[in-house]
Amino acid sequence: MTNKVTLTQFLIEQQRGLPDASGTFTLLLNNIVTACKQISHKVNRGNLIGVLGSAGTENIQGEVQKKLDVITNEIMINALNWTGCLAGMASEEDDNPIAIPEQYPRGKYLALFDPLDGSSNIDVNLAVGTIFSILRCREGVEPELEDFLRKGTEQVCAGFVLYGPSTMMVLTTGHGVNGFTLDQDIGEFILTHSNMRIPEDTSEFAINMSNQRFWEPPVQRYIGECLEGKEGVRGKDFNMRWVASLVAEVYRILTRGGVFLYPHDLRDPSRPAKLRIMYEANPMAFIIEQAGGACSTGRERILDIKPSAVHERVPLILGSKNEVERIVRYHKEDGQAQ
Ligand code: F6P
Ligand code: MN
Repeated sequence: MTNKVTLTQFLIEQQRGLPDASGTFTLLLNNIVTACKQISHKVNRGNLIGVLGSAGTENIQGEVQKKLDVITNEIMINALNWTGCLAGMASEEDDNPIAIPEQYPRGKYLALFDPLDGSSNIDVNLAVGTIFSILRCREGVEPELEDFLRKGTEQVCAGFVLYGPSTMMVLTTGHGVNGFTLDQDIGEFILTHSNMRIPEDTSEFAINMSNQRFWEPPVQRYIGECLEGKEGVRGKDFNMRWVASLVAEVYRILTRGGVFLYPHDLRDPSRPAKLRIMYEANPMAFIIEQAGGACSTGRERILDIKPSAVHERVPLILGSKNEVERIVRYHKEDGQAQ
């Protein structure tokens, strides 16, 4: 490839297009990139450096933490807390928002992240990722909980890194979606997927079928019709994938279309959904919508939800527009829409 555009060049050129940009945002993203390169290295080295297996601790969600959950969380925090770009951070792995250490200056952004998404995949050598969301914060204040609890529409940037056969970063700042591949030889992310667009139609769905008995009628109906294939009302055969790693599923959908569902679940009223809004659903929804797809709980657009807690969970249905709209319609027809 001649004339490679690095992520750094891409960010600086974007910054030049914004008359008021001070460079803070570019610096912040560059440090996220540095953290993700370190994570990519650790994930890739795996058992050679003894990072696989359980850490023997639980996070606030009651999930057993892997060693790499803890290590990657530290990498993210240490890469970002000194920069002067942030007023605060929140992570899947920390119960409460993370304060910026006293000795460092405060900035105007908040970073929320899932440092190692899909970490159940790590010991079986399958794809994992890092997800992040950037919000603007009131300046000159120590952020309070309410400063974090913003609707997804207020995100200024969202992205994820997929540690797969290649390490890829996918990014949006609200002007489309671009994908960058890490060139391990030079240690730089290179623009390889400009203006990613999701096909509006699809015949591929992703859902954890083992939860079928807990789904509500609209999801039962939708998946039932997909499974009927050519002989059913859809009149075509569907294919199914389940990687158990949200980043990998979203990347596949960005590349060839599809629909992903982790729907409302009737198994435990205290936990009606699995995925977390602030650092999983919201950043993915921003990216998916920017690529021409749609993202909903089935009842409500994800980006319009006002979160009430940093670790709040939401049903998540995302992907090819026409398919997500069909699922939303099934919810309406079931009399459950707002
Ligand atoms: O972070 C949660 C997560 O690992 C997602 O990446 C993935 O989509 C989902 O959970 C898989 O859930 P399950 O193990 O229930 O299939
Ligand atoms: Mn996750």
